[in-house]
Amino acid sequence: MKLLNKAIVVTLLLVVTGCSGDKSDGPIVIKFPHVTAPATPKGKAAERFRTMVAERLGGRVIIEVYPSSQLMNDDDSLDALAFGEIQMIAVSLSKFDRLTKKFQVFDLPFLFQDLNAVERFQASPEGLTLLSSMSDRGLLGLSYWHNGMKQFGGPVPMRSPDDAKGLKFRIMESDVLQEQILQIGGNPQKMAFGEVYQALQTGAVDAQENTWSNIYSSKFYEVQPYLTETNHGYLGYLVTVNPSFWGSLPEDIRLELETILAEVTTWANEQSALINGEGRDKILASGASEVVELGVEEIDLWRATMRPVWSKFERDIGSELIGAAQRSQPD
Ligand code: LMR
Repeated sequence: MKLLNKAIVVTLLLVVTGCSGDKSDGPIVIKFPHVTAPATPKGKAAERFRTMVAERLGGRVIIEVYPSSQLMNDDDSLDALAFGEIQMIAVSLSKFDRLTKKFQVFDLPFLFQDLNAVERFQASPEGLTLLSSMSDRGLLGLSYWHNGMKQFGGPVPMRSPDDAKGLKFRIMESDVLQEQILQIGGNPQKMAFGEVYQALQTGAVDAQENTWSNIYSSKFYEVQPYLTETNHGYLGYLVTVNPSFWGSLPEDIRLELETILAEVTTWANEQSALINGEGRDKILASGASEVVELGVEEIDLWRATMRPVWSKFERDIGSELIGAAQRSQPD
């Protein structure tokens, strides 16, 4: 069933059966599956949310966190949330591509200089408007969580875009990322996160892009002799609920959950750079993979080679959104 139809069906079911968050006969259970390891920025944030809810809502709400694609992959979780089978997700912003093109702004290569710039954009009126932009599809964004900036890994040091020519790159489910890889002469393959390690190990793909914390915790560095530090793009999450479910919660509970989530978000977004730095250090210490650092001119060449991606998606994303993101850069 198409996602929109599912969302309509689940809304009807919630109304007809009275199946809502307002259950007087037991705690409200919020199933929260995600795909990364527990020791990642998202894994730690989800776990902190779980423990703070247990402490502050005294058994009235139970958060069940399922890390490492244990319950389902991200693509399936988008459907499951809209259908009311699970109650919370924190899927990478790139993966909303099939629902709206607006979130593709986060995938534009070299748009954000650093996480502070991302944070300023997310807190801007344009960034905040995006949170509710998919409500009619059964998805309501509550908060943005950072992972970090992405790096390239592959069988060769990628000092220049020429080094990427002909390589098969695993990418997330995003048309902008697909175009980004085409611009550098690579062959993009959309693939679920849980399949990447094996695909690299067996040679089904040659290369990938991800953050230090994901590359470390999912052991991609063990099957990638070279990791090139490009910081060419942002990877972050939208903490998302089903608006029908969320609206059905008793008001005091909903408000407390939102307060806790805001506190967790502040904590998690302060931690993310640290966790990525630790991942990078541990990869270096392992000696399993070489970290290739680039000079300013080398980075400039990557930036210039990928820049045509912007104009290809400007109409879909909207120039006002891209403009707001650009205004969030440091002076
Ligand atoms: C990926 O698929 O590479 C990421 O979305 C994984 C994650 O959730 O950080």
